[in-house]
Amino acid sequence: MKLFDVYPINNINIVKARGSYIWDDNDVEYLDMYGGHAVISIGHTHPHWVQKMEEQLEKIAFYSNSIKIPLQQELADKLGKVSGKNNYQLFLCNSGAEANENALKLASFHNGRKKIIAFTKAFHGRTSLAVCATDNPSIIAPVNETDNVVFLPFNDEDALKDYFENHGKEICAVIIEGIQGVGGIRVASKLFLQLIRNLCTEYGAVFIADSVQCGYGRTGKFYSHDHAEVNADIYSMAKGMGNGFPIGAISISPDIAPKYFMLGTTFGGNHLACAAAIAVLDVIENEKLMQNAEEVGNYLMEEIEKIPELKNVRGKGLMIGFDVPDELKDLKKNLLFKHKIFTGEAKPNVIRLLPSLALTKNDADKFLAALKEEVTFLVSEKENISASVNA
Ligand SMILES: Cc1ncc(COP(=O)(O)O)c(C=O)c1O
Repeated sequence: MKLFDVYPINNINIVKARGSYIWDDNDVEYLDMYGGHAVISIGHTHPHWVQKMEEQLEKIAFYSNSIKIPLQQELADKLGKVSGKNNYQLFLCNSGAEANENALKLASFHNGRKKIIAFTKAFHGRTSLAVCATDNPSIIAPVNETDNVVFLPFNDEDALKDYFENHGKEICAVIIEGIQGVGGIRVASKLFLQLIRNLCTEYGAVFIADSVQCGYGRTGKFYSHDHAEVNADIYSMAKGMGNGFPIGAISISPDIAPKYFMLGTTFGGNHLACAAAIAVLDVIENEKLMQNAEEVGNYLMEEIEKIPELKNVRGKGLMIGFDVPDELKDLKKNLLFKHKIFTGEAKPNVIRLLPSLALTKNDADKFLAALKEEVTFLVSEKENISASVNA
């Protein structure tokens, strides 16, 4: 049987991982500035996470949601504390798309409305409604097409006000990433997030903060929307939550009341997933990883800004992007194959950094040295080519 070929992949077989490093089957070491797509929050195979998972596996890995699973309450208590939203309610699922799908569906159950506002370049996942709130028609199948989602320009306060003034009572929810990931590390402005909060409150719409990529402490605060000092009605999360073990969730305001069977899942909140997520929160707290993300992230951004060829350095904490000009288009590839450093990308020309929140300053320095060396190399190569053409 063949694999269904949906990903362009690098021909590298990673067999071992620890902290911010991974090794291939030839024992070549790589620095992981990509975190397996923002998933590795506390570092690969963190000993506390491994121990908690092993202990749980020896007891029980799964039973259905038809019984009491005290680990779910333990996770809810910890998440409430670390996220600073003790009075919110937790629904557990398995992935980011599923979290957003449930958030949107719950919003519609709550206010009985249908219209969703999403923003240009948004990515919210690949399930039926989440994909329709994603600004990429090429991944929306004909069967999923809907008129229920409108896209407004990102960070455009006037367009948002205007839409609410004309359609306010129809709007079910506004969904927004605090920092767009797939869209190329675009930071939602504080004023824009505050306006969303005010308009949602005024018109009875639900504010959904997609924190799947930008949440879980990555930006130095638990949810990146916290930088705007607003509370959303629902936060969706996944990637960093299990440090690689699949788990997603929504954190729901106390103003939204549950009803039996309005949401549900077979695997969500299973014992092993909860053990992974609890271990992650233990480490985030004990090792002060949000503070580390802020400090090391600020340092990285300041240093990258000193490289004049790299443009428009942006982000928060350890969610960083910069534009790579056309003449340096081999930068990402060369970082990987010459310097053994994984980075992320966003189309057409953005390098995205999404390392573990435990990235050390030494690791950051190692990355910066390679980055500077490679930029210098590519610039000189380019100069040599144009000199020989002009000779
Ligand atoms: C902001 C955001 N929301 C949702 C998703 C979907 O998450 P998943 O791939 O776990 O379904 C992603 C994945 O990249 C994401 O970046």
